[in-house]
Amino acid sequence: MAGNQRDGFSSKLGIIVATAGSALGLGNIYRFPCEAGANGGGAFLIVYLGIALLIGTPLMISEFVIGRRARSNPLGAFRRIEGRSRSPWSAVGYLGVVCAFLILAFYTTVAGWTLGYLGKAAAGHFSGQGLEQIQQQFADFTGHAWLPLVCQMAFLALTALVVVRGVKDGIERYSKILMPMLLAIMLVLCIKSLTLSGAAEGLRFFFWPDFSKINGQVLLSALGQSFFSLSIGMGALITYGSYIGRSDNMVSSAVSVTLADTLVAVLAGIIIFPAAFTFGIQPEAGASLAFTTLPMVFQQMAGGYAFCLLFFVLLVIATLTSTISLLEVIAATLTEELRMSRARAVVVGTLGTAVIGMVATLSLRPDSPLRLGGSTAFDLLDHLTALYLMPIGGLLIVLFVGWRMGRADVMDELSNGGTLPLGLRRGIVLVVRYLAPVAIAIIFVSQLVG
Ligand code: PHE
Repeated sequence: MAGNQRDGFSSKLGIIVATAGSALGLGNIYRFPCEAGANGGGAFLIVYLGIALLIGTPLMISEFVIGRRARSNPLGAFRRIEGRSRSPWSAVGYLGVVCAFLILAFYTTVAGWTLGYLGKAAAGHFSGQGLEQIQQQFADFTGHAWLPLVCQMAFLALTALVVVRGVKDGIERYSKILMPMLLAIMLVLCIKSLTLSGAAEGLRFFFWPDFSKINGQVLLSALGQSFFSLSIGMGALITYGSYIGRSDNMVSSAVSVTLADTLVAVLAGIIIFPAAFTFGIQPEAGASLAFTTLPMVFQQMAGGYAFCLLFFVLLVIATLTSTISLLEVIAATLTEELRMSRARAVVVGTLGTAVIGMVATLSLRPDSPLRLGGSTAFDLLDHLTALYLMPIGGLLIVLFVGWRMGRADVMDELSNGGTLPLGLRRGIVLVVRYLAPVAIAIIFVSQLVG
């Protein structure tokens, strides 16, 4: 069985680093501020924090449990645990792989922008520019006839190059030093943002919860955002879980990753909202929010050119470690299920993504016909995956671990064969069985009701 020769992470730090690499990315720095801005700021933040910590962490642990138990890609994992060649639960695996394709498709659109912005930062395009010019640059770049496509394909090719080399060399090595560097530069940016004239207003928007703003839509957006940001509900962490060693502590790893991911999202908010209020950018600006506020902040800083360049280098890398984890889901599935060579699996996955990805990118052109009822193909892919496929996948995963897998097997995984204390771990099982599925179901229903 291919499972016997599977690659693996070399250490506990390896899992944390690789999972954090998957989790940290555009979801934190680009999508989180977008969603928080569109959904009432502080109210969204509170709901988001609750969901990430209470549902996100146990779901992440559940994916690790499935992955390590089965030592398989998401498609094979359910079959293996069920011990049957066919199982209806495999549908969860299929859902995950389809989701990986769809996310990768629109994610690489924005990933391409980060490459483009890296180029702009290097060329000094932002220095001395006013808000209108910076906004125009965003519109010109994203609406350009071919540049965003070229950047997207370049990003996809970069991802493919790393994934071909396999898990340990490819994924672990890059993340270890670069993620802490990203955190450091974000701290510097925070300090700068906090000194801007609109800081108080921005912080009030981001932290002060107006509970009247919470409705079904806000709940679902927060749920989708937390799943998206933590890379859960679609099998990426089942795949990474399958590379975790027998003696690694997956509970503490999941807690560390959730905390780090949440911290980076909150830092992004502390950077972006004070800046938005200072420069007069609407918090609901959507896709352009991060890409206009950040260059404006850099302009106000001593050494702004160097900081801006370094920031975009690190953002490209943080994004790359996320796209790697998405392509890895596809590559692991194709190699193990269809017995393709790794290289061929990566080529097939990359080409498939490139086709859908192109549609996503072209749909953002101002004159594009690739729209449905006012939404672009890009938005549709984003909503379909984050608001529907990931929460549904997440619900099925916690139901599987909570109710379908044997309790003894789950405890065995959680406690590393009884070598780790059971206390807290019993609580996790309760959350996975009751709290998480009920909460996800309620959020779904509340959103339908309005
Ligand atoms: N979590 C990543 C981010 O925040 C995106 C992602 C989603 C990666 C799903 C893998 C799987 O940028």
